Amino acid sequence: MDKRELIELALAARDNSYCPYSGYSVGAALLTADGRVFTGCNVENAGYSPTLCAERSAMAAAVSAGVRKFTMLAVAGGPTGKEPETYFWPCGVCRQWLAEFCPPDFPVLCAKSAADYRETTLAELLPHAFSPSTLT
Ligand code: THU
Repeated sequence: MDKRELIELALAARDNSYCPYSGYSVGAALLTADGRVFTGCNVENAGYSPTLCAERSAMAAAVSAGVRKFTMLAVAGGPTGKEPETYFWPCGVCRQWLAEFCPPDFPVLCAKSAADYRETTLAELLPHAFSPSTLT
């Protein structure tokens, strides 16, 4: 599974986005240490705040399947029905979720397309994270 393929899976997951309120479709693909991929999309709600982001959707699917070791995340998002025109950067809550399971050097691919993306790390997205190690 290379970076391009992981982004393709995130882009495909966008197609399942349920976003009648924002019209903004997001997809995420999470590569696990054992080579599996869990995907997620944003799932909105009439109550607005119960909305689930694509990244947390993918992480919850993986953890629910008993998987907690991840090696890379790809995310892509933009107005529904169009190819993304900007790089997609995870929200603060999803950054905090990543910090629960992933190390500071965890790579995150913030994609516009499979050929055009920015690679960053969790530490860059969430410096000085409050993580499980904080509590030990
Ligand atoms: N969204 C995500 O899926 N991930 C993020 O990191 C930021 C925002 C979704 C939530 C909502 O359905 C839509 O994008 C607009 O905020």
